[in-house]
Amino acid sequence: MSGLFDSLSLGSLELPNRIVMAPLTRARAGREALPNELMAAYYAQRASAGLIISEATGISREGLGWPGAPGLWNEAQVEGWRSVTGAVQRNGGRIVAQLWHMGRLVHPAVSGMEPVSSSAVTAPDYAHTYEGKRPYVEPRAATAHDIDRIVGDYSKAARNAILAGFDGVQVHGANGYLVDQFLRDGANFRTDNFGGSIESRLRFMTMVLEAVGAEIGMDKVAIRYSPNVYVQGVEDGDPATLFAAVAKRLEELKVPWIELREPRQATASGAIPTAPVSPAMRRFYSGKIVINSDYDWSDARRRVADGTADAVSIGRLFISNPDLVRRIALGGPLNEGDASTFYSGGANGYTDYPTLDDARAA
Ligand SMILES: Cc1cc2nc3c(=O)[nH]c(=O)nc-3n(C[C@H](O)[C@H](O)[C@H](O)COP(=O)(O)O)c2cc1C
Repeated sequence: MSGLFDSLSLGSLELPNRIVMAPLTRARAGREALPNELMAAYYAQRASAGLIISEATGISREGLGWPGAPGLWNEAQVEGWRSVTGAVQRNGGRIVAQLWHMGRLVHPAVSGMEPVSSSAVTAPDYAHTYEGKRPYVEPRAATAHDIDRIVGDYSKAARNAILAGFDGVQVHGANGYLVDQFLRDGANFRTDNFGGSIESRLRFMTMVLEAVGAEIGMDKVAIRYSPNVYVQGVEDGDPATLFAAVAKRLEELKVPWIELREPRQATASGAIPTAPVSPAMRRFYSGKIVINSDYDWSDARRRVADGTADAVSIGRLFISNPDLVRRIALGGPLNEGDASTFYSGGANGYTDYPTLDDARAA
């Protein structure tokens, strides 16, 4: 029986505990998408996590539409990230980069470019831009040439991640972004060999994972999914069958670990989850499974103890509790988070949440 405080290998990573910091967009990188010292301080505060998964990070200008989110496509960004990864590692932590192409969820007001997706279908709702909320625009359906170029952007960003000192990468395959726009049949209406059958819908993800694995070694690669929930216009008619096929593919590719955002209750946006797919994936996939969404300690302990998950990732509580691992170990009190500062920029609500020691000293 494993516990949250047991060590764990995730490919080339050796985690001292099984409490992972989930990827959290915090929008502190400015218009140049440039990581900075404030971000280094924030991540360094959270280095006691078994592993930090970085906030979603753009692989290209075309793929990044979130105001203030960071990128990994140019040298200045690599330099900026170096100070972040160095600060985490000096504090004894490990950090992987979440590689992000937002597909149709990129508004041209942010990227300056026409968005691209699996199909020419406009996403529902509104994009956040520097000028406030704007309706999404219709993307172009990616051509074969676009797909090759984007796959190349993923491998370049993975190489940049290693140059920037990251311990590995996680491909963002969740939450309705580009990989998800290819995977799930609620957004992919292609009739070529990238759409239609499950085999064809898996092709883009497979190309990305193969390219990234060839670039940096598959032992440093992971992927995240949100299989059982409607998100940003993306869902699937038969998630259990699709994600069982995904699991078989990951097994063939030897991807060492995955993270599943698998809510068991309605999400903040009101989406009602369908049945979890992790049990179906477990049958076909021998890699490690990190489970996410709304976990408290007793639940997290139970999933790790009964072996249905190898580790648990925590999002919002890591925002408001930099020393979350210690608080779990001690059964300590938790700081409340302030959602109004999630994306507000600046140190307020970012690097100023107190640790247990800060609270005692005050
Ligand atoms: C402020 C905020 C930013 C987020 N940014 C990302 C992100 O960049 N990438 C991602 O895959 N998920 C992102 N998520 C989802 C979280 O990783 C996580 O799945 C979600 O918060 C549920 O976990 P929790 O209940 O432990 O908070 C974000 C969530 C929040 C609240």
